[in-house]
Amino acid sequence: MSTPLHVLIVDDSEDDSLLLRRALKRGGYEVTSERVDTSEAMQAALAAWNWDVVLCDYAMPRFDPFAALDVLHKSGNDLPFIVVSGAMAEESAVAVMKAGAHDCIMKRNLARLVPAIQRELAEAETRRARKQAERRLEESFVALAETVSKATAARDPYTAAHERDVAQLAKLVGQRLGLDDERLMGLYIGGLLHDVGKVSVPESLLSRPGALTPEEWALIRTHTGRGSQILGEAELPWPVAEMALHHHERPDGSGYPDGLRGDELGLEVRIIAVCDVVSAMSAHRPYRPAKSMDVVTAELRNGRGTKYDEQVVDVMLEILAAGEFRPEQA
Ligand SMILES: [Fe+2]
Repeated sequence: MSTPLHVLIVDDSEDDSLLLRRALKRGGYEVTSERVDTSEAMQAALAAWNWDVVLCDYAMPRFDPFAALDVLHKSGNDLPFIVVSGAMAEESAVAVMKAGAHDCIMKRNLARLVPAIQRELAEAETRRARKQAERRLEESFVALAETVSKATAARDPYTAAHERDVAQLAKLVGQRLGLDDERLMGLYIGGLLHDVGKVSVPESLLSRPGALTPEEWALIRTHTGRGSQILGEAELPWPVAEMALHHHERPDGSGYPDGLRGDELGLEVRIIAVCDVVSAMSAHRPYRPAKSMDVVTAELRNGRGTKYDEQVVDVMLEILAAGEFRPEQA
């Protein structure tokens, strides 16, 4: 019984395409194929169908395997890409493999085609399974961070959704600043866990409305150092411990615990600091109502460059003006 195989053939010649389909049929495949020979046609074909493999000619008048690999990578598909060529210098084969092709086959050695496809399909399946496992692990990790964050917040009922608001805002700021997915994930986790050190602060202080004594404030301020200790032990791949330690620092050096100044603070820390203030101000407290957006934006403008990082404030004002932030705790 033959195995179905969807093949996207990138080739300017219909005869060559026929040759490939025959070789695959002889190898036991029931082939469905489409032939394309331009970037636009390849993009359309990738969007329209779930292909198993791409077979690409080397020399074409209007297209080449490097451009085809670029189209494939940009489409987000992880498909085996095999170059099949009549004549190809060794250096060209090396270059195209470096660009991401999985194999190069000469037409005179077409017997290699079927085993190469079988091998590459198996490897693509392994890559897919690995990616899925990584995604699941990442999702579990986020769920775990959310649980820890909720457990911390449970001791401070008035700020139950504060951590999630900071996480959501920090991600929005990071996106607008063009940070990559890895750093966005770090910002989200950092937002969730920046106040984790509050586990060491007596619950009676956290939930008590009204003024605190200097000693009580000193005790609350220990949450940054404690948080950084807890998170530092976890050895996470993002500067989450630094976000916990320095999210109350200010660019003019007026913050705590170390009185660090602007350029001594990492970007993630400067982002979390602003998000923390926006979330706290826009939250309702038993001893005061939530501040209006006008009051929040006035505070950001007044503190721009002194209490809050300029670049982060500018982006935050855009986010608030666009109505992108909807506090969970409103
Ligand atoms: Fe804090």
